[in-house]
Amino acid sequence: MSSPNRPTAIRGPALTFTGDPFRDGIERTLVHEPDAIVAMRDGRITHFGPAAQVAPLLPTGIEIRDFGKDALISAGFIDTHVHFPQTPMIASHGAQLLDWLDRYTFPTELKFADRAYTRRVARAFLQENLRNGITTSCVYCTVHAHSADILFEEAEALGLRLAAGKVLMDRNAPDGLRDGAQSGYDDSLALIRKWHGRGRLLYAITPRFAGTSSPEQLAAAGALWRAHPDCLMQTHIAETQAEVAWIKELFPERSGYLDVYDHHGLCGKRAVFGHGIWLGDDELERLHAADAAIAHCPTSNFFLGSGMFDIARAKHADRPVRVGLGTDIGAGTSFSILQTLNEAYKAAQLNRNPLSAAHAYYLATRGSAAALHLEDKVGSIAPGMEADLVVLDMRSTPLIAFRMDEARDFAEQLFIQMILGDDRAVQATYVAGRRVHGS
Ligand code: GUN
Ligand code: ZN
Repeated sequence: MSSPNRPTAIRGPALTFTGDPFRDGIERTLVHEPDAIVAMRDGRITHFGPAAQVAPLLPTGIEIRDFGKDALISAGFIDTHVHFPQTPMIASHGAQLLDWLDRYTFPTELKFADRAYTRRVARAFLQENLRNGITTSCVYCTVHAHSADILFEEAEALGLRLAAGKVLMDRNAPDGLRDGAQSGYDDSLALIRKWHGRGRLLYAITPRFAGTSSPEQLAAAGALWRAHPDCLMQTHIAETQAEVAWIKELFPERSGYLDVYDHHGLCGKRAVFGHGIWLGDDELERLHAADAAIAHCPTSNFFLGSGMFDIARAKHADRPVRVGLGTDIGAGTSFSILQTLNEAYKAAQLNRNPLSAAHAYYLATRGSAAALHLEDKVGSIAPGMEADLVVLDMRSTPLIAFRMDEARDFAEQLFIQMILGDDRAVQATYVAGRRVHGS
């Protein structure tokens, strides 16, 4: 590992975004620099631009790592929705959401009563993130307060910018996995006081979803968020049709699924709603007005048979919603953001919308940062931004190398990576200016 404080620089082709291509178009927002230098010091980017322009500005003697013309430097990938305790149960066969929770998820999450097991999984999870170029994630822990403590400890040791929260869940879950409205509130408050804003860490108030929280618990979560509005708030919404029908039965007095959360003070800026496949137009309108976000989790949606999220609809110019990308491990099937983009493309295709590679890479970086309201800190390459980067090898397999020889332009090269690439394409990962994976 390199030292975080010494100025360092890397060189190679680079891609980043200065804005939202869904709103302002690709031409006005995509920056592709065929031979760039990114210089870093004290965890931040100090210089970014064409190598010929940046090189003379750098301190003498600075070490410049040249990744060569077959690399691509990007802001680190961002995962806006993931369950670290589900790492050990990824690829569990044969169930849709509600059944899958009962058969696989809850039995696995019970194991996190054991702190040593929790730490082992937290470490494996974070290492897998770094291997895949993920430098920020918004993470669900388990109901156990120590699951959040342990994940934050491990993330802090790596210097990661990461948001996480202990899951709130006081009904429709087995013994050993339920808290109470008051105890969940108290545990979350203690975690906020300990971790929120400590270094690069952020707390996400985390009612799992309306199916596993009583109205009292949702109200307590809303009160906690009102008192700590700079925390994130994450939950699930409208993932499957059976779930939507069940929530209607549980909350007959509410006008819809989003209204259940809204009524309890859980719809606003820094809310991150997982999935949202089956939301109505009025609900998308409300998310837009509230400046809340949706985490689009395509590998999970296909794996559980939940449906195809329509990103063009969510980003409609009349009422665009912030949308980030999520792996949703362990319903999701890959830590690879490239593979997640592959499935996002297919979900968009099934909605008759051929998502462009530029839009896809925006989603994986700056778009996901914006979904977490962190776009002023991470998700793009520019002086002053935190120095979280991924370096892709654009010829990481024989097939990709073969196909790249036929690519006519940069858009095609990008698309090839997101359809054919995976963890093998991640050549190096930098966190706060320090190389933490690769060579
Ligand atoms: N809805 C409530 N809990 C979960 C979960 O753990 N995973 C997914 N995909 N959906 C959920
Ligand atoms: Zn989830």
